[in-house]
Amino acid sequence: MECAGTESLTLRMPSAEDGPAISRLIASSPPLDTNSAYCNLLQCTDFRETCVVAERDGEALGWISAYRPPATPDRLFVWQVAVHSAARGEGLALKMLEALIARPAAADATMLTTTITEDNQASWGLFEAFARRNGATLTRAPRFEQDAHFAGAHATEWEARIFPLPTFRTETETHS
Ligand SMILES: CC(C)(COP(=O)(O)OP(=O)(O)OC[C@H]1O[C@@H](n2cnc3c(N)ncnc32)[C@H](O)[C@@H]1OP(=O)(O)O)[C@@H](O)C(=O)NCCC(=O)NCCS
Repeated sequence: MECAGTESLTLRMPSAEDGPAISRLIASSPPLDTNSAYCNLLQCTDFRETCVVAERDGEALGWISAYRPPATPDRLFVWQVAVHSAARGEGLALKMLEALIARPAAADATMLTTTITEDNQASWGLFEAFARRNGATLTRAPRFEQDAHFAGAHATEWEARIFPLPTFRTETETHS
């Protein structure tokens, strides 16, 4: 794929038709865990208001899945972030995160959480940059542990908490 700037990118909510492209993007973005097609379809439909697709010329270049956890509705949990390898390093992930927190569905969230394995430097770099840009603090603690929760099969997922989210957020996308 040719690498270009972010000017012609559209950021929007997903729909069911995006499912296969999102599954492909995730599969081509290690170290992300792949999900079932069905899981991605639920994200694209039931959770569409807190998921973001970035596309250019009809091609999905970026993806964020997120939701408001029912037990902690003051939070916005970011599940996965993926940017196509040809579009990295242009600020697209940051742009999607900022569009996400400006959505009506995230407007009253005061904390963003996510989980990251210790060795995922790109992910730590992204969320540290996001916290810095928004005047927030990032703290971390183990959430799902390698032995206790993954039976040794997966590295510990550290929860990153970014607080406080800015109270005034300008919407930067068109909703469909
Ligand atoms: C992580 C990922 C989404 C970043 O996408 P991106 O569009 O290239 O990120 P941005 O250009 O918006 O960069 C945002 C910040 O993250 C930092 N960053 C991005 N990639 C990085 C890397 N490989 N190592 C360290 N920091 C990195 C940037 O330096 C930037 O911070 P800065 O503004 O202080 O310079 C992308 O590399 C990716 O899809 N990786 C594979 C999947 C993955 O690991 N996702 C993690 C989240 S679940």
